[in-house]
Amino acid sequence: MRIHVSAEKPERARVDALILPVYADGVASATVETVDRKLGGVIDELRSGNELRGRENEEHTLVANGKIGAKRVIVVGIGAKGDVTPATIARYAGVGVRTAARRGLTTLALVLPDDLPFDAAEVGEAATEGALMATFDPSPYRSRREAKPDAVKSVTLIGAQSAAKQLGKGVERGTVLGEAANLAREMVNAPSNDMTPTNIADRAKALAKKHGLKATILDTAGMKKLGMGSFLSVAVGSDEPPKMIALEYRGAPKSKTVLGLVGKGITFDTGGISLKPAQDMDAMKGDMAGGAAVVAAMSAIGQLKPAANVIGIICATENMPSGRATKPGDVVRAMNGKSIEIINTDAEGRLVLADGLCWARKLGATHLVDIATLTGAAVVAFGHTTTGVMSNDRELVDLFHRATRPFGERYWELPLFPEYADLIKSPIADMKNSGGRPAGTIFGAMFIKEFVDDQPWIHLDIAGTSWAERDNGHIVKGPTAVGMRPMVALAELIGRSDVHKRADDAAQRRFMQASPSTAASTNGARKPKRATAKRKKK
Ligand code: BES
Ligand code: ZN
Ligand code: MN
Repeated sequence: MRIHVSAEKPERARVDALILPVYADGVASATVETVDRKLGGVIDELRSGNELRGRENEEHTLVANGKIGAKRVIVVGIGAKGDVTPATIARYAGVGVRTAARRGLTTLALVLPDDLPFDAAEVGEAATEGALMATFDPSPYRSRREAKPDAVKSVTLIGAQSAAKQLGKGVERGTVLGEAANLAREMVNAPSNDMTPTNIADRAKALAKKHGLKATILDTAGMKKLGMGSFLSVAVGSDEPPKMIALEYRGAPKSKTVLGLVGKGITFDTGGISLKPAQDMDAMKGDMAGGAAVVAAMSAIGQLKPAANVIGIICATENMPSGRATKPGDVVRAMNGKSIEIINTDAEGRLVLADGLCWARKLGATHLVDIATLTGAAVVAFGHTTTGVMSNDRELVDLFHRATRPFGERYWELPLFPEYADLIKSPIADMKNSGGRPAGTIFGAMFIKEFVDDQPWIHLDIAGTSWAERDNGHIVKGPTAVGMRPMVALAELIGRSDVHKRADDAAQRRFMQASPSTAASTNGARKPKRATAKRKKK
């Protein structure tokens, strides 16, 4: 799909369909009114008859009958004007593109709402991302199809002349992020007989080559050498070769800050010997959504090139029962030497992340984010709209919340009070991997926390949010790529804060040279302990 920016008059656009935004609260738009006048007031009539309310996900297709340049007009609701965010724009573009694709309309012009309270670059990015994500094909294995979601070939974003440059910038970023999101969704949607650990590793390698990342892939022997007994205890029951994958990006060679993104990549979770019930087990092909989000985030980071260092790790294996599989009660040792009593082989995500996080530290990560479809308890607590966030570092998690803001994804924190440390105590080993029903999501985080070496860390439990239950805007029922964009945005924020910090340091040095008395007292001054996502101005 090609995306252009134009300041032409909407009624002039010679396209299959012109897409128009309509507010729910009756706020008028000069552009829409101009087009409607040419159409003889049909939009106004639908509105006054309450057939068109302007609510999100509402669409009406009108025949233009030669009255304007476009053959069809697709009117799309965008909700109340005061509630519009970049995410609304993405959903608007998504509904427009999906409606057009269903009807086989291939060239579109999308009218952007004017005078929104955010930057045109954000509008362009969101519209592009929404349009691209709307082309995602959830049924790639179907042999006979009427209309394909990728039927739309071109989308022209129509905005103000003065915004053209910013819109263009947004289109560039939106293209990278939209394609990355679709990559993650495609991987999660693919079944486990296709999306094997080897397949994930091959994709990671190809992306690394394409975008200048360094790829390192460990097989069983390599993992044994590093002492990854926790990860291997999950992989041992499967005939499918496991892979530990690292993708490294260096965008700030002078900075000591390295962001480590670690994704759970269970390509199928049967539960192992603690076998899951048959009901809904097929959904466990998506148990690698965290890993897919990391692959996609690294792909986007390789293209957007933030001034930060980032390592992405994907812990990829199946969790299967077999004669060689780990049994409840078995004790294994992770890469950092800690021993684990495996109470439940279905609590496997934390076992693979344990070694993934240790490896991230070994490769130099100073700040850690792990992302995982970890617990059914997160679905109970948050449903399908909100991702659970747990962290040991207020500053990093605040930065993360900032990173999540524009995308319409919901994140909410659960506490990791010291009292919860009792949960994971084992009578035989350093810890156990599962307890009873209480605080299931927090249990997972408390366990994982044992492997982050006291570095600033965030745990994201996406069990409820990695798969959408229904169509909504640019996201159709199926995988959502949740977490990918905030991780990219976090890398960008860290990059920006590091750049500022270097500038601050230089100013500080100049100041100290100019005033010998202060220089004496600050000489050899302590470096901040954590070189940093810290943005505190000294
Ligand atoms: N992959 C599952 C969690 C999950 C459940 C993801 C539902 C998406 C939808 C995870 O490996 C798992 O089985 N967790 C167990 C942990 C328990 C045994 C402590 C769970 O949540 O039941
Ligand atoms: Zn799992
Ligand atoms: Mn499991």
